[in-house]
Amino acid sequence: MAVQPNDFIVARTLELRRAIHRKPELGFEEHATAALIEEELDRLAVPHRRVAGTGVVGVLRGAKPGCVAALRADMDALPVQERTNLAFASGVTGVMHACGHDAHTAMLLGAAHVLAAQRETLAGSVVFVFQPAEEGPGGAQPMIEQGVLDDPRVDAIAMLHVDIRLETGSVSITPGPVNASADELEIVVRGKGGHGGSPHTAVDPIPAASAIVLALQNIASRETDPLGSVVVTIGTIAGGYRNNIIADEVRMTGTLRAHDPSVREQLEGRVRRIVEGVAAAYGTQADVRVIYGYPPVVNDAQLAEEFARYVRERADVDVRALPPTMGAEDFAYFARRVPGVLVRLGVRNDALGAIHPAHGAQFLIDEAALPVGIRTLVAFALGVGTGRLGAASARS
Ligand code: NI
Repeated sequence: MAVQPNDFIVARTLELRRAIHRKPELGFEEHATAALIEEELDRLAVPHRRVAGTGVVGVLRGAKPGCVAALRADMDALPVQERTNLAFASGVTGVMHACGHDAHTAMLLGAAHVLAAQRETLAGSVVFVFQPAEEGPGGAQPMIEQGVLDDPRVDAIAMLHVDIRLETGSVSITPGPVNASADELEIVVRGKGGHGGSPHTAVDPIPAASAIVLALQNIASRETDPLGSVVVTIGTIAGGYRNNIIADEVRMTGTLRAHDPSVREQLEGRVRRIVEGVAAAYGTQADVRVIYGYPPVVNDAQLAEEFARYVRERADVDVRALPPTMGAEDFAYFARRVPGVLVRLGVRNDALGAIHPAHGAQFLIDEAALPVGIRTLVAFALGVGTGRLGAASARS
């Protein structure tokens, strides 16, 4: 069984990636991207359906019995004005594929080409999951609710994400947490407004808010295991009217992040205790609201270890181990339901200027990484389909 895309498939993947890059679309508006995916799957005679609006799911059934692998790519772009000199730069003002989702979608179509060509000898089935709105509000959850993992029942799932920390030719596959949870924090501190010259007649929420910001640092520095990972960031703070008026309230927003689901669960309680306690000490009153976002992405330990070995041996891919990040990814929802692996794909190339971080206006990738990504996806599908990968994870 072949994992290697032929020259035609490599060229076609490049062409698709550039077409998607030229016409980026924001979350749940990926109409042209979805149509392009459907056309390509039609060409490959892979049946597909629409899920969650602009999401597309293709199912390739092999001729031989076996397990079901899912491969997931995100489709959406970001509200960024592109500042690269690419010939195929974004043609849409203020919208750019600045996170590589164009490449993810194209590589998944490339993998569909390789796998569809061998359907007569293929064991099991492959579910191609093209997911909208990864950058928010999130397409993974509605896709799961609409049965993407159930028909056929998926045994294991993988995804690629381009990574500028890693040279082209390499991937990173690590067991355990690879991305963090990301929850939104809103705090309102209420006092009593008054004249700036007569503070004793008012209750000033500004010193209370200042003390709260400092006290919240205690969660990461004193209350969490130093070997664990937690972030409490206050990103905005606003209150008051004028230099000589005591404000009546201060509003703050922030982000709470963690790798360990149990550490995440404790964050809201810790934040409440500190905010409400400090607010009371200053004679003010505070409201805390936590809006829960994406959970942490936790790679299935056994599947990740097996896959790292498998892809090195069978797909001739250099496998490294990058440290996890505190970024977030809604692949987390898939990996919570079935054993999953998030694979980081190296796209760094200093000579090409592929060195800028994702989400920036100068972000670009080394396209020589695309065949490496296709080989990795195909290897996963073949390994799971034949039961060589993920069997132990599925049983546990
Ligand atoms: Ni991304």
